[in-house]
Amino acid sequence: MTDKRETHSEGEAYATSVAAEERTANNLVEARNLVKRFGKLEAVKGVSFSIQAGEIFGLLGPNGAGKSTIINILCGYLRPDEGEALIGGYSVSREAQAVKRLLGVVPQEIALYRDLNALENLDFFASLYGVPAPERRARAEEVLHFVGLHERRKEPLKNFSGGMLRRLNFAVALMHRPRVLLLDEPTVGVDPQSREHIFENIEKLAADGTTVLYTTHYMEEAERLCRRIAIMDEGRIIALGTLEQLLAMRDQSRIVYRPHGLQELFIQLTGKTLRDL
Ligand SMILES: Nc1ncnc2c1ncn2[C@@H]1O[C@H](COP(=O)(O)OP(=O)(O)OP(=O)(O)O)[C@@H](O)[C@H]1O
Ligand SMILES: [Mg+2]
Repeated sequence: MTDKRETHSEGEAYATSVAAEERTANNLVEARNLVKRFGKLEAVKGVSFSIQAGEIFGLLGPNGAGKSTIINILCGYLRPDEGEALIGGYSVSREAQAVKRLLGVVPQEIALYRDLNALENLDFFASLYGVPAPERRARAEEVLHFVGLHERRKEPLKNFSGGMLRRLNFAVALMHRPRVLLLDEPTVGVDPQSREHIFENIEKLAADGTTVLYTTHYMEEAERLCRRIAIMDEGRIIALGTLEQLLAMRDQSRIVYRPHGLQELFIQLTGKTLRDL
């Protein structure tokens, strides 16, 4: 990927640099009939969807729905038993190097070295992605501004709140300027301010052409952030569309709860509530 960035000090500059990059495929993420079994458990039961360039796509589902398993297949960490995953038109299983360059992943569990400070963490993880040493410092400064942690960059992580750790976890995934971002419940355990900060960052990146897959079990997050939403339960997508399309699917005659967004649809389709709301 070429570096078209001129300035590094502002978050805006970072977002703009992402937009400048070329696009190779219209569908940046494609899941084709993915199946994944863990022993007798079929955790993902034939899941298909595609995500267009610059789209924020939500995977919404309760605990155990299969969201993380799908993320792990898309980033090549898990092999599907059936089906195929493509990133930017490249096969995840057969063209891993091309996929690695395009893809940034924010894992559900925070993956940071607690003995290193924020700058050192960013430098280390960027080295794993092959970002050349001379560029790493400038990029680290840039993403630290972007996630609002620049002033804290040299502090030990033991001083960081849960929200700050989440933001740094996010920043790590941005160091190699991925065109596709997979975010696995990136706001769990964060305060409303950090959550808002993360949302705004995602919106900026998407506005500048980054393609985003966002998993969550919070309906409000999916409604707020995502252009299209796939509702998952027990390894299947049970509904997929824009928020308007999903809301239109609700059977109004059966709505017994306050008319709140996707909750009724989920109940109507599954007979249960999104358990953790
Ligand atoms: N490595 C594994 N070995 C065995 N079972 C697994 C493994 N990973 C996931 N599972 C099971 O597969 C199912 C889907 O799990 P997954 O982590 O994908 O769900 P999720 O939607 O991400 O849930 P959560 O919201 O709790 O993160 C669950 O029943 C889970 O227990
Ligand atoms: Mg998960």
